[in-house]
Order: sequence, then C-alpha cells, then structure tokens
Amino acid sequence: MLFFIHTNISAQTNKDTEGKISALISKMTLQEKVNMLHSNSSFTSAGVPRLGIPELVTSDGPHGVRQEHGRGWQGQKDVNDSGTYLPVGIALAATWNPALGFAFGEVLGSEAKYRGKNVILGPGINIMRSPLNGRNFEYQSEDPFLVSRMTVGYIKGVQSQGVSACVKHFIANNEEVDRGTVDVQMSDRTLREIYLPGFKAAVQEAGVNTIMGAYNKFRGQYCTHNAYLVNNILKGEWSFTGLLMSDWGAVHNTMEALQNGTDLEMGSDIGKPALKFPESFLGDTVVTLVEAGTIPESLVDEKVRRILRVMFKSSVFTKASAGEYGSDAHIATAGKVAEESIVLLKNQDHLLPLNTAATKSIAVIGSSATRRQSMGGGSSHVKALYEITPLQGIHNYFGKAEVTYAEGYTIERNSIPTAAMISEAVAAARKSDVAIVVAGWSHGYNYSKWSDNAFDAEGVDKPDMQLPFGQNVLIKAVVAANPNTIVVLIGGGPVDMTQWIGNTKAIVEAWYGGMEGGNALAAVLSGAVNPSGKLPVSFPKVLEDVPAHKLGDFPGKDGVVIYREGIFVGYRYYDTYKVKPQFAFGHGLSYTGFTYSNMQIKKAANGAAVVTVTIQNTGKVAGAEVVQLYVHKEKSTIERADKELKGFEKIYLQPGVSKKISVTLDADAFRYYDEVTKVWKTEKGDYTILAGSASDDIRVSGTVKW
Ligand code: BGC
Repeated sequence: MLFFIHTNISAQTNKDTEGKISALISKMTLQEKVNMLHSNSSFTSAGVPRLGIPELVTSDGPHGVRQEHGRGWQGQKDVNDSGTYLPVGIALAATWNPALGFAFGEVLGSEAKYRGKNVILGPGINIMRSPLNGRNFEYQSEDPFLVSRMTVGYIKGVQSQGVSACVKHFIANNEEVDRGTVDVQMSDRTLREIYLPGFKAAVQEAGVNTIMGAYNKFRGQYCTHNAYLVNNILKGEWSFTGLLMSDWGAVHNTMEALQNGTDLEMGSDIGKPALKFPESFLGDTVVTLVEAGTIPESLVDEKVRRILRVMFKSSVFTKASAGEYGSDAHIATAGKVAEESIVLLKNQDHLLPLNTAATKSIAVIGSSATRRQSMGGGSSHVKALYEITPLQGIHNYFGKAEVTYAEGYTIERNSIPTAAMISEAVAAARKSDVAIVVAGWSHGYNYSKWSDNAFDAEGVDKPDMQLPFGQNVLIKAVVAANPNTIVVLIGGGPVDMTQWIGNTKAIVEAWYGGMEGGNALAAVLSGAVNPSGKLPVSFPKVLEDVPAHKLGDFPGKDGVVIYREGIFVGYRYYDTYKVKPQFAFGHGLSYTGFTYSNMQIKKAANGAAVVTVTIQNTGKVAGAEVVQLYVHKEKSTIERADKELKGFEKIYLQPGVSKKISVTLDADAFRYYDEVTKVWKTEKGDYTILAGSASDDIRVSGTVKW
C-alpha cells in the first residue's frame, strides 16, 4: 500500500519548533497520538496533559466569535460571550479594501484570543456560483481574484494575533441543500481558474495555518479525504504544512482519511449516525490498525506533527497577549467596514444623499428595519454586544426629522402583508418627504431553534430570487405613494428587482452590516459617508440568466452536480455572452464623480506588467473609487472570458484632486490553465488592459503584447 508522506515540510518551518515537536511525539503513546486526531467535545480536540500539551480550541466563525457552547451544543448562560459582530463576508468583500480585510481579521483574532480560542473558523471563501446558495452571505465573491485579495488580508490579520485562521470550505461547497452528499464534477480548468485560487492564495500568500475540508464530494470522493485535492494539490503542489480539519461530521471513511490527508476529524458526534468521540473514524480504530501493522505509525505521527505545528503557531504553549473583546477600537472597525461595504446601486435625480436639515419627515417601512440579524444564519451567528438596526441608525442621523415606522411585512414562514399593513405603509409614505423601504432576505424566521434557518443560512438554499414575505407588493405600493422612495436591501446577494426597479429612484445594498450596520446605513443615506462599496458579485435581472440555472445545473440531479458553465461564472458569463445583468460586477455609485485618464503599461520582470492610470475626483465631495483592472485577450485561440479582473486599487480623493495609481499585474494575470497539458500557459499576442469603475463601465484601456 502507498502512503503519502510529505517530505519537504521540515525545511520550510522553524527548525527549533520541529525539534520540539519531534521530542513531544517521541514521548507520546499511540493512544495519546490518536486521541489528538479527533474532536473530544463540540469545538475542541484532545491534548496530552501529562506532556503539557493542552487541547486545541476552535470556534466559529467568520464574522465574530460564536457564543459559548462549553463542551456540548447548548449556548451557555452567564458567560461573557457578547462581543463584536462584524459585517458578514460578502459585505467585507464589497469594500474592495484588503487593508480593511486585515483590520477585520485583527479584530477577530484578538477577540478569539480573549475568549481562549486557538483557531477561528473563517474566512469562508466559496465561490458564489448561484445567488441561491444559503451561505453566500458568509462568502466573498464570484471572482477568484477578489476572493484572494480579501482573504489574504483577513487571514494575515487573524494570524497577526497569534490565533490561527481556518479557510473554508475546501472546495466547491457551493450549495447547501445536499452539501453532505452531493458529488461535484467540474473540469480541471474550472477548478484551477475559478475554485482554487482563493485557497492557493490563503496557503501561499497568507500562510494560513488551518483549512477546513468541505462536506461535499469532488469527483466521487469526499473533499475532506480526497486524494487529488488534498494529497496532490494542497499538500503536494502547494506544500501546505498546516492542518486540514474536516467540517463537522464530514469524515466518512477511516482509510481514506488516514491516507488522503485529513489531519483532524471534527464534529464526530454530529454525523449520521452520531458517533461517540473514541468511535470517530480517526478514533480508536486507528490504534487497532497500527497495532495490526495495517498502517504505519508514521502516518499518525505526521498528522500529530501538523496539529502540534498549528498549536505552536496558535500560541497554545506560550503566553499570548490577552486580546480585546468588544472594545471601542473593534467596534470602530466593524463600523468602518460597514460604511465601506454599502453599495449605492441606483440614484436617480440625485435623491440621495438626503439633506438632514431639509428632510423634515421620513417613513421607514419594513420589518427588516427593526430586525436584529446577529443571532441567525447557522454556525456563523454571533452574540452581539449590541446591534444598531436601520431604524435606530436613521433616528441617530436624522434626529430632527419626524420618523414614522410601519412594519410593512412580517418575517414569518409563508406570510404576506395584510391589506391593513399595506395601507399603513402607504399612509406613512404619503405624508412623509421620503420613504425608505428596508427589504430583503433574513437569516431565519425566529432564532429559537436551529432548524428555523431560512434564506441566508446554513443548510438551506433560497427557493428563488424573489423577495419573500410579499415585499414586492409592498414596494410597488410605497413607490406609487411617494416617488421619493429609497429601497434598502438587506441580505447576502441579489434579488429579482424587475417588478419595481423602473419606478424606484434609489436603491442601496446594505448586506448584513454587523453591529454598526444601522449607523453605517444612515451615514450613507445622509451623506455623512460617501458610498464606496462595489458589488463583489453580479446582480442578474432574473434567476434564469444565471449560467448554472440556465443549464439546469443547480442543485444538480441524482446526487451529482456538473458545473457545465465551466469558467463562465458571474460576469465572465454575462460579459462574454452579452447578457445584461441588473447591476454588473464591480458596480457601485458615489456622491462624487471620477475621471480616468492616461493609462500607461510597462512590461516588468518575470512576465508582469505595471499599469498606471490617473484618477481625478471631479465632484464637490471627497470620495473613494475602486479602480478595477480587467484583462482581455485579443483574438484568443482558446475559449476565454471576455475579461477577467486581475488588479484593483481603492483610492480616496478630495474634491478636485487627481492621483496617479500604479498596479502591477503579475504573470498569472495573463495565463490560462490548459486542460490538455495540465499546465498554466500564456498565449502569445495582444492583451487589452481595461480600467474602469465596474465590469460594464470601462473608462480607459491600453495594450500589452506577450
Ligand atoms: C459548518 C462550518 C462550521 C462548523 C462548526 C459546520 O456545519 O459548515 O462552517 O465551522 O459547522 O460549527
């Protein structure tokens, strides 16, 4: 039997630590080693107390440290577990600001440390293949380059605190309904160009310490113990030296887990049937297998080595600084991310910003205006120290205006607004200067039971792209009653706006904005903050326009989902096949204007190109622009997307000021993965570099020849 043991590990990591690890392993009994390979409570795995090795303590999640569970699954009472609730992943990515990614990670790392956690189970970076995926809100984007840039910042931020990040879910967990069983099939080119780059950047650029294997299968084998993904790519090609843990209950086979790189089996007690911890796939059976000579003990040692290596990096053996919890500085970061994440989608007649002195009366309509979101969505839920709702934020910023609130709709299963609710909303809109309808998805109906998750939540996918709870009817009625209506959308991705977008003057995407979300929203509505968020995912007009859905490949059939759209995910599809989305990838308006001029391209060493562009703020207020650089291959002989994002920079400019920015596109920016020879190649010929404010708003371009 062949066992995959990675030989190039020691050379890459600190020799002293490797020596200490070897010494510890040499003192451990086989049983002690095996005890370390699986969970021993809901979020911990065993240490070896007699050798001074403590447990490894993990915790969700991607936008805040999850409430305290003790060793089981029940939330604990009387513990200090109310902390910073950061905006969700899609909101972070909408900032297009990797420095904020780092700041976000620092907050999480610091709070995890304060709470005694060694590994924070984030970031989630699965590609948004369909708007229906219930967990898109936790993820970042449809674009692998944007995912990579935001992820690297986030991971470095977490790990700067002496806490390990855990990038998840490796890979292709792009739907929730059948995540535990579905077999994902895609071409190698699709895998390499779309689904892997974020994870590769996490490993090779950010040095992520841990990775979580996905629940689903890939080409017939579970991802967590998938020979190709883990042995060949992750630990082989990418030389990953940290630990691969399973998702909770995602291990299904002892020999595969042993041979194919699963280092730590987590959530063993929640599989079906539920296992007791020693019965884990990587539990006592492994002792028997080693004793019988079926597997060499070195295979177990290698996993223990990886776990110990992560322990050393997660300060379990050293006294790390204390960290902070719910501090003013952390809350300020949550607020800053929320402000930069908000995307102004439409702003006809300059309805926004609303002048705080001149706006005398505001109708705030919609149940989401008063809803707290932090405790919903599944494993990523957070007990927030507080959470400013949209209505509270509006009160805070428009203190002088008369604010009338109407519920408009109720967040309950199958509910539609009653005639009385519509009349109340219409009356409020009619008597007010402006109406703000807060609409969108929700994480659940009520959060009293786990299974109540809905729409943007773990374990569920949305039924369609329609706003639930009769919100389309409500919006149409309010827009008809007051032409100065602003629709604010809360949620983890696009909704079908076709019924009301034509008559609606202003639309704002506010995601799930974290504890300061309501203040950030009101700051943008009032103009105190100039919006600078850009869509990290295309907003199609209707679900049928989404390639995976057009092809009938979501969520798949008979337990298999084939990604027949291949590399044509999101704007790669819309731009190439000339399907106009409602709002394009990278779109986001500002209260000021920017001009682009004078693009210059210089070839640099190793196949890179340095692109410079001059950007000027031509309006009357300060603002930020995300300058996006896309690459288009002229006369390509292979099938390619019309353009691909390969660089971006967010710049802040005072009114009238211009600045020359310089972005390096490395050699990878021009490459494609050749399906036949299985290598990355650069086609010879002309490449057009397109600089713009959105994927459908290109302002200047230039050419480079390779
Ligand atoms: C989720 C993971 C999460 C884990 C622990 C799983 O069901 O898919 O993202 O980290 O539970 O709560």
